[in-house]
Amino acid sequence: MTAANTPTAVRPALTASGLQKTYYSTEPPTQVLQGIDLELQEGEFLAIMGASGSGKSTLLYSMSGMDRPTAGSVRLGDCDLTELNDREMSRVRLTEMGFIFQQAHFLPNLNVRDNILLPALKAQPKQRAEVEARVDSLLTRFGIDHVANHGITEVSGGQLQRASICRALATEPKVLFADEPTGALNSRMTAEAMDALSDIHRDGTTIMLVTHDPTSAARADRVVYLRDGRLVDELELGAWSAEATTEREDTLLAWLRANGF
Ligand SMILES: Nc1ncnc2c1ncn2[C@@H]1O[C@H](COP(=O)(O)OP(=O)(O)O)[C@@H](O)[C@H]1O
Ligand SMILES: [Mg+2]
Repeated sequence: MTAANTPTAVRPALTASGLQKTYYSTEPPTQVLQGIDLELQEGEFLAIMGASGSGKSTLLYSMSGMDRPTAGSVRLGDCDLTELNDREMSRVRLTEMGFIFQQAHFLPNLNVRDNILLPALKAQPKQRAEVEARVDSLLTRFGIDHVANHGITEVSGGQLQRASICRALATEPKVLFADEPTGALNSRMTAEAMDALSDIHRDGTTIMLVTHDPTSAARADRVVYLRDGRLVDELELGAWSAEATTEREDTLLAWLRANGF
């Protein structure tokens, strides 16, 4: 039996309680998150949807410690992230979290492999051989081993996004955060990237995905809807399978329409 299908008690991986975020840089201040309670279970794949400006990215930043909430708390397993100082928070982000964004933000003077390898070595400097082996197996798994030594301007957008998935997974994070990861990809590349995310989810990684793309969100176990900084609805889809794609997308689209998406 693999870790992914061993029956285990359901445990929260990431919990937000009473989360608020207000930006004081504007006049009047912008109250973006208005008291969010949200729990991701270990191994759960959760998608966040909502109109542009509803606070999806802010929620992801606040739950991943990239940004400090104004009020409320966030727990990663047993650790209260809101009590950590900046240095401790960076360490947790580097070692326990993976990030994928719309743009990959790779260093132009490094090849694909080194862009993936260097952040992981920074997180786990004493495990060089293990980290290298893990990175090489990720490159193979996601079908980009043949471009490992290419410059980042010499590979396609789809390959680059798969490279950013490899980079996010190189430290074996507890939680993977993805903010519009397919926002800059065409539909074929989107399907490839989402296949990769489904694959990672099957391994047992907890995933928090922000997306405006219903096809991508239909892969998730559960979808929540954010309106003006409040969670107003949720849809339980259960485990994804390729055969159920059309049915899940229809269910999700009807639910989104009911929420005014
Ligand atoms: N640094 C900031 N300063 C002031 N307002 C911000 C800042 N970041 C985001 N906002 C505002 O917060 C709201 C939600 O933004 P965001 O979380 O990016 O929404 P979404 O990802 O759902 O499109 C928007 O009205 C945006 O203008
Ligand atoms: Mg956003």
